[in-house]
Amino acid sequence: ERSLLGMKELAESEITQLLDRTAYWDHQSEKLTPVLRAHFVANMFFENSTRTRFSFEMAEKRLGVQVLNFTAAASSVEKGESIYDTVRTLESMGIDAGVVRLKPAGVLQQLAEKVGVPLINAGDGNNEHPTQALLDLYTMRKHFGGLKGLKVSIIGDIMHSRVARSNLWALTKMGASVQFCAPANMQAPELAAYAPYVSMEEALKADVVMMLRVQLERHASGIILSAEQYREHFGLTEERASRLDPATIIMHPAPVNRNVEIDDAVVESSQSRIFPQMANGVPVRMAVMERALQ
Ligand code: CP
Repeated sequence: ERSLLGMKELAESEITQLLDRTAYWDHQSEKLTPVLRAHFVANMFFENSTRTRFSFEMAEKRLGVQVLNFTAAASSVEKGESIYDTVRTLESMGIDAGVVRLKPAGVLQQLAEKVGVPLINAGDGNNEHPTQALLDLYTMRKHFGGLKGLKVSIIGDIMHSRVARSNLWALTKMGASVQFCAPANMQAPELAAYAPYVSMEEALKADVVMMLRVQLERHASGIILSAEQYREHFGLTEERASRLDPATIIMHPAPVNRNVEIDDAVVESSQSRIFPQMANGVPVRMAVMERALQ
């Protein structure tokens, strides 16, 4: 039984094993393979989610897992119960693993040290979102046949992005190179040692152009650029997308701010892999769930 807290802690061989197992589940036509039917898993989301929450539930149900869905707003968290006491409560009742999304960064690591069941990180603050990185890597590997030597540009709100961090750690481990592009107030200076910041023009010259959502809810002092200015300087507009190499693919973890960081028509374009990314979230989470419980 194993936790998955971040990509930083995974070896290249473990990432490869997870991606190979993802491919296995991706190619299964049978929807229900109840190999984990004797296991109980709680999905504990202390922050909102659509894709991660439902693709975990889909993955768990496809494997026959007994699913408990915990929603903070309908729980004793509303009476002031802590995250730690909540997880310990579900552990006492007999869950075999927990899928956890939290607002503050760093808390998940402390939780995992105190509880006896494996925890899977479904996004912790701006720290890591490992299953998102795995589905992103799987999407790239499926398209290009491998990851080694790929050039990946990650564009947007790097400072607040757990997706950027998890992808950075995972991609560099797998032999791909990462470059960032962000307005000055959305850069993460501590990451500059691992990936250079480049201009928007330079960022468009890559195998993968990954756009990030401007995380308005995490900007304490508001953003300096208006939505129109952001689109003008850092958006993947139709005009910029028309200048991409035809072999370049466009990605975005979603939810998307259409016509802010990416134009409506570009989301739906033939180079976009945004909806396949969401589809790949299910087999990735099946592989992660098996690793946690077997
Ligand atoms: N990409 C992602 O994590 O989406 P949700 O916040 O909807 O889960």
